Amino acid sequence: MDTIGLGLDTTFDDTSVAILRGKREILANLTLSQYQEHEEFGGVVPERASRKHLEVIHHLISAVLKEADLEFSRIDYIAVSNLPGLLGSLLVGLTVAKSLAYTLQCPLIGVNHVESHPYANVLVHGEMQFPILHLVVAGGHTLLIHARDHFDYEIIGRSVDDAAGECVDKVAKMFGYQMPGGPVVDRAALEYSGDEYDFPRPLMYKNGHNFSFSGLKTAMLRFREKHHDSSVLNKELQMLIQEEGPILASFFQSVVDVLLYKTFKAAEEKGLKNISVSGGLAASRKLNSAFEKEAKRRGVKLFYPPASLCTDNAAMVTCLAAHRFAAQQFDDLTLDAYPNIV
Ligand code: KG4
Ligand code: ZN
Repeated sequence: MDTIGLGLDTTFDDTSVAILRGKREILANLTLSQYQEHEEFGGVVPERASRKHLEVIHHLISAVLKEADLEFSRIDYIAVSNLPGLLGSLLVGLTVAKSLAYTLQCPLIGVNHVESHPYANVLVHGEMQFPILHLVVAGGHTLLIHARDHFDYEIIGRSVDDAAGECVDKVAKMFGYQMPGGPVVDRAALEYSGDEYDFPRPLMYKNGHNFSFSGLKTAMLRFREKHHDSSVLNKELQMLIQEEGPILASFFQSVVDVLLYKTFKAAEEKGLKNISVSGGLAASRKLNSAFEKEAKRRGVKLFYPPASLCTDNAAMVTCLAAHRFAAQQFDDLTLDAYPNIV
């Protein structure tokens, strides 16, 4: 009989619970987003996020069991992301996971949330094809991972400052948009050409496989200030409003160009013919089409998940855990939460 895993993800501001059969069949995958809960504060308030997870998690667990038409007794293991994220949020998921594993007397498997993002691809495209280069563009992390096998990999590049997603969210905020900024910027990038303004492409040809996005964010801030501080304020503001679409499109073009160039360059240098893209920012249709086009041009096999599996979800977490379960890699009830480790 196929194994059944129940997985929890409460790393940041989304509460997600999933049930997986075998290594990749999603029986249920439900996510509650808290974005609106934090809107009036202009960002995620950690204590509020923990409370919200606590309020909804048991409802979500009941709902996934119902959707999968399963009893608790059928669960073979409990998966939980125990790093990285907000400590209070992680502890809610971890405590619930431990209680379940203890009560059901089944294995507990802790998962690194960022490392689980690429597994969104396994859910839709089938088993991972190694060796592979993963680009993970999540809200707080931008990583290039060279994977030789499931548990044999190396982080070969990361952002030395802001993650790409963080930069996109902050720039969208400069223009008055609430979190998440990605969808707004992506819409502008689809509508306008992206080459009307020339914004920086930091570290594009430098610093190996590492990224940097804080310089681009600062360039956008300066650009905005320049127009705001002008003596012809109204006229300039008018220009900013009218030009907002092309400005955001050009900004995002810089982000896409850097991600695209550095990823394909790293794949070329490492001799890798498989590339996977994942993480919330990968939900961008602009980024998706840029990667599809380049992969086709270079004859590289690209694994790209649908938008619904790019953003945070417990199915990808459970999918990685299913591979750990198959390899008999279990944790025990001493498992801890680690906010900062990737
Ligand atoms: O992976 P994720 O859901 O959360 C973390 O693990 O951090 O990524 C969140 C990021 C944010 O920067 C958000 O603006 C972006 O994903 N995002 C999108 C879209 N939906 C979320 N970016 C572009 N297009 C979207 N549709
Ligand atoms: Zn994530």
